[in-house]
Amino acid sequence: MTERRLRTQVGIIGAGPAGLLLAQLLARQGIESVIVENRSREYVEARIRAGVLEHQTVQLLTDAGVGDRLHREGLRHDGVYLQWPGERHHIDFPGLCGRSVWVYGQTEVVKDLIAARVEAALPLHFDVADTALVDVESDRPQIRFTSADGEATVLECDLVAGCDGFHGISRPAIPEQLRTTWERVYPFAWLGILAQVAPSTDELIYAWHPDGFAMHSMRSPSVSRLYLQVDPTERIEDWSDDRIWSQLQHRMGLDGWTLNAGPVLDKGITPMRSFVSAPMRHGNLFLAGDAAHIVPPTGAKGLNLAAADVKVLAEAIVARTQEGRTDLLDAYSDTALRRVWRATHFSWWMTSMMHVNPHGDAFDRQLQLSQLRYVTSSTAAATGLAENYTGMPFE
Ligand code: FAD
Ligand code: PHB
Repeated sequence: MTERRLRTQVGIIGAGPAGLLLAQLLARQGIESVIVENRSREYVEARIRAGVLEHQTVQLLTDAGVGDRLHREGLRHDGVYLQWPGERHHIDFPGLCGRSVWVYGQTEVVKDLIAARVEAALPLHFDVADTALVDVESDRPQIRFTSADGEATVLECDLVAGCDGFHGISRPAIPEQLRTTWERVYPFAWLGILAQVAPSTDELIYAWHPDGFAMHSMRSPSVSRLYLQVDPTERIEDWSDDRIWSQLQHRMGLDGWTLNAGPVLDKGITPMRSFVSAPMRHGNLFLAGDAAHIVPPTGAKGLNLAAADVKVLAEAIVARTQEGRTDLLDAYSDTALRRVWRATHFSWWMTSMMHVNPHGDAFDRQLQLSQLRYVTSSTAAATGLAENYTGMPFE
């Protein structure tokens, strides 16, 4: 069988936020790339995930030329509410650290990046199969794949960016004995719904409750996103819309406040884990985003970390291509991992403070309530939350 042979500077596996943003940042600097994605465009654009963008992620998307709709339709939030039964407290981000966050769905970020790529007529292959990595230790690594029209293809690159998420092929392409991994699987999951109803709050509510965490987020002035802590073995079929709304009301209820219910557009259960794999480089293969690390969603960091990785990686690739410097590429893994570990700690901390541990006891619950009172009453403690939630400055 004949093979089609292609050549590019940077081969990118995965059209999630990491792969798409990397390609966009490189294109702005005149560096060629090819993206291969094993799902369809429709699937990738509809996959509901994160919703909160750090101040610097917004800046990065704006600088990358894909910020117009984000600035028109995104919602700037100057804080979050932390709640436990009978009390709701606002954390004022600009007052504490001078920064805000933006509510704008990952689906919308992905749509904007794909639209920019398609408009510029740059290569983006959806629906590929059999993606494989070859010779990543060499200076001519290859991505092999079968294109949507069934053609066996060899993509020869200067370097490869593995942006293929947690279940991708890139991380396993690094020999196991060269990798160190750290993992924490939490004894709970999030049941999430997207609902056609105006949010019942101006900013996100994170609610601790003895029956489990609940949270109110949003996507637009007419679409709400809500979550409930559930056991990871729960099946979504056992959660009717009525049962979900009544649990949300029960866990988030507060005198004088009403939770508006509405038609459920989407629902699903996501397990929660922390995971870090190092190094994020092997030869000429560089990992970015969920391919190298996963955080539980409580800190709203997953998408933001993916963006931070590719900012560092894009700058390093530009330095090598335009100035022949390899120091930034050599430092990439260490530079990215410092931010990854900060976000890993923050996400673990928020998760531990907000969720009821099914194996915990009354002592654990008193510690959580004490921590919540401290964070909502001490400027020093609140500043730590605000700094991390809005995103630590880039190094
Ligand atoms: P991904 O978005 O996973 O993109 C990887 C891409 O690679 C995918 O498009 C995939 O189809 C493709 N791919 C995989 N394997 C191959 C292959 N072999 N060949 C070609 N392509 C391949 N974060 C939050 O902050 N808040 C949330 O509420 C939240 N909810 C989440 C819910 C779920 C179900 C999941 C999985 C994640 C959630 N996250 C959330 C995390 C956040 O969405 C991720 O951190 C973010 O998507 C990371 O982007 P990425 O580009 O690194 O990876
Ligand atoms: C969301 O809107 O989906 C969302 C917001 C904040 C989080 C997690 C998810 O911490």
